[in-house]
Amino acid sequence: MVKTVRVSAPGKIILSGEHAVVYGKPAILAAVNRRLFVSIKKSTKNEIIASESPELVEFARDFVLRALGKQKEKLKIKIFSEIPVGSGMGSSAALAVAMTAALFKFFNQPFNKEKINEIAYEIEKKQHGNPSGGDNTTSTYGGFLWYRKEAEFLKLFKPLDFDFEKLPRFVLINTGRPLETTGEMVTKVRKLYEKKPRQTEEIFQKIEKATKKLLVALREKNDGEIGEVIRENEQLLEKLGVVGNSAKRIIKEIEGVGGVAKVCGAGGVKEGSGIILGFHPRKNSLLEIAKERNLSAFEVKLGEEGVKIEKN
Ligand code: MEV
Repeated sequence: MVKTVRVSAPGKIILSGEHAVVYGKPAILAAVNRRLFVSIKKSTKNEIIASESPELVEFARDFVLRALGKQKEKLKIKIFSEIPVGSGMGSSAALAVAMTAALFKFFNQPFNKEKINEIAYEIEKKQHGNPSGGDNTTSTYGGFLWYRKEAEFLKLFKPLDFDFEKLPRFVLINTGRPLETTGEMVTKVRKLYEKKPRQTEEIFQKIEKATKKLLVALREKNDGEIGEVIRENEQLLEKLGVVGNSAKRIIKEIEGVGGVAKVCGAGGVKEGSGIILGFHPRKNSLLEIAKERNLSAFEVKLGEEGVKIEKN
């Protein structure tokens, strides 16, 4: 029988700290119940079956094969993903993690998450230039994470034992796929930092404060404070210039009916800003706003399992 290996890795959202995390500030991330699946089997020629970004798949495959010294192997690789692409939910990190883990498993390497995460980070670096490493770490380990990159060689994280069932119900709304890549949005913020270092550093410090407040609010299940921090966080992201006008309008509308929402990834300004994280005591109010605007919206489960081997 031909051996087939099947592995999946989750997408993520950033509850607080995006962009600032690239500059050494902390972030709170959560793995979500949307996964990317990679299946691999031996073949007579190299084949990739993927509905999105086959060139990224090829790049990730070749990177891992080189790391394992297996460049000559011919493989049939299939990708199936439930994660919206390029919209702030960590689809590229999930691909890097799942591809690395699947090839490790296929070539009988120990399923060592630290090594898988390291290689996935290198793949992310090639694609985005200067990632924090938070996305791939969350996709690898799952759950809720407190993450902080102190230096290139010291990326610290700690699992947070939040019980999702006791947290408020968040709704994700897709404001449209950004035209910009994550790398381009990170560069945009870098340029702002170079132009206005003092003001930008101040925004990062405020984001750090918000992230710490959110940490305590989530632990204490203080819905009022959680909402307040999300609102504050969105204002800071708008000041960083990563939220487009259409997303701003949707967020204002949500605030108008007593809810809050924030961009939860790199954002985007030319068209959509990707996924926004919304919170309202009556979640249906958010679902209605999304429906009126013909935007896809879904309830999300947070704290899902990290990369894992699937049964065939
Ligand atoms: C991307 O999901 C989040 C950013 O903070 C970039 C990164 O952490 O690498 C914008």
